[in-house]
Amino acid sequence: MRSIWWRTSAIAAGALVLVLILWVVIALNTDRPVAYDDITDQFKYGSIGSEPGVSLMRPVGGVLPPRSVFTALPSICPEKLPGGYASLGFVFEKGHALPIGVSQRRRLGIDHVGLNCAVCHTGTVRDSPDAEPRIVLGMPAHQLDLQRFVEFVLECSLDNRVTADAVRGRLEQNHVSISLFERALLRFGLIDRLKLQTLELRNRIAPILGNGVPRWGRGRVDTFNPYKAIQFNWQLDRLPHDELIGASDFPSLWNQKPREGMHLHWDGDNDSVDERNLSAALGAGVTPVTVDHAGIKRVRDWIWTLPPPKYPYAIDGARAARGAALYRQHCVMCHADERFRDGVRAPEATRVGLIEDIDRIGTDRHRLDSYTDVFAANQYALYPESQYRFTHFRKTGGYANHPLDGIWARAPYLHNGSVPTLLDLLNPPGERPKVFYRGNDVFDRERVGFVSNVKEDRGRVFTEYDTSAPGNGNGGHEYATSLPLVDKLAIVEYMKGL
Ligand code: HEC
Ligand code: HEC
Repeated sequence: MRSIWWRTSAIAAGALVLVLILWVVIALNTDRPVAYDDITDQFKYGSIGSEPGVSLMRPVGGVLPPRSVFTALPSICPEKLPGGYASLGFVFEKGHALPIGVSQRRRLGIDHVGLNCAVCHTGTVRDSPDAEPRIVLGMPAHQLDLQRFVEFVLECSLDNRVTADAVRGRLEQNHVSISLFERALLRFGLIDRLKLQTLELRNRIAPILGNGVPRWGRGRVDTFNPYKAIQFNWQLDRLPHDELIGASDFPSLWNQKPREGMHLHWDGDNDSVDERNLSAALGAGVTPVTVDHAGIKRVRDWIWTLPPPKYPYAIDGARAARGAALYRQHCVMCHADERFRDGVRAPEATRVGLIEDIDRIGTDRHRLDSYTDVFAANQYALYPESQYRFTHFRKTGGYANHPLDGIWARAPYLHNGSVPTLLDLLNPPGERPKVFYRGNDVFDRERVGFVSNVKEDRGRVFTEYDTSAPGNGNGGHEYATSLPLVDKLAIVEYMKGL
């Protein structure tokens, strides 16, 4: 009797262990991105592979904690972020718990979140301070303070109040349900691992957050320095201090097809759209191991022909026609004209997509200098022997002449966003605003750009932008600056329709 009992128990226990092992194996092998059929939903919420994962021992990639923790942080550290993620310029839509630009993926049995292209390439515009924001996909996220976001996630994740209990206690209020496996991990050490990783990440990027490096603030990110630290393991504090100043304005993503072959990125360091896409994905936290090429290709195919947004207000036709003539005289050779909207390059636009030497263009040179030959060499070493190997990046000596399609929605202007409006850009540097505020999405139809003299609005504190700080210079680009005001206004009127 006894031995039968023993045998059955042993078989049952053995079966249980097998099931348990199977469950763990299946959980560890699941890789399920949340994807959408509709391409605009995919752009806003779909995955490009920036969520962490691959191995529990060494979770690579990603800068964000699991979804359960991510959604709990603002209420665990309320004093660090009183207005929640929305106050940083993240855009929340009805029916979506996560903001635009944050994707989700189940990997290693955990629901992870990551950043996608839309986080930096989706902007909002308001007609007036009382109006609802209009969401424009592919527009620079000029309202987003990514730096403050990264700092908040790092600081709060390391806070003693972040515990498994605190996270579990907030699942319901945040409408987050997690797998049994994640529950088990939460119980056994997930939070400790997360803190260790966060500490490591913070130490790697600390030299560019503070340390005399001017803040990126709303609408900007340092394109290459975080990449040096996170992808290439460089010791940032060993680099010359000026190389750590590389804040760049977010650009627009529309109409990529006619841009193929042009030397773009602000400094014209790459003439292949596909490489710019892939490299941008790496900037979002994607790694060569986690990259989702299919997800990126869907976005790539869509932005290939995505039209630039039409100017949403009235345009004075007669004034714009006068402006067109002046534009053809002073600007078309470097920037192309209104035909570029339909993919047609004006024959006079001989210099568009080429690089203007820094001594001629005269704008702030920090962004240019933050991209170095050594960095380019390291980029070539990524993806060795794969079809995705970078082969087009190169160090240049200036900034690129970009097409200006949809330029009304691309304020503030220049690579560092140092000039708030189009009218200001047509003034000599000495007459451009020296200190202004970035991140307000109320549109200024007179000067064309965003309202830049308001410090804060409805819980959003805008970035005070000081043009005297290194990397923030607003000099250079002195074209048409000595024309009379009526002519400048005419050029601006014409540019509304670009
Ligand atoms: C973390 C913010 C961020 C994310 C996420 C991001 N980008 Fe960008 N993107 C930028 C910045 C900043 C630049 C300008 C880089 C520079 O020249 O310094 C840029 C430049 C580009 C350009 C070149 C534009 C031009 O006219 O020169 C393309 C194309 C692009 N991104 C596509 C993408 C795609 C596709 C994704 C998603 C796979 C993506 N980006 C994700 C910030 C981002
Ligand atoms: C010789 C070439 C050249 C000419 C001529 C020129 N530009 Fe530019 N423009 C540039 C370069 C290069 C940049 C990028 C500089 C930077 O970001 O530091 C630029 C940037 C800009 C930008 C900012 C783009 C953005 O996305 O922020 C605007 C707007 C602009 N130019 C308008 C004009 C207008 C209007 C004229 C004529 C009055 C003009 N440009 C004439 C080369 C030129």
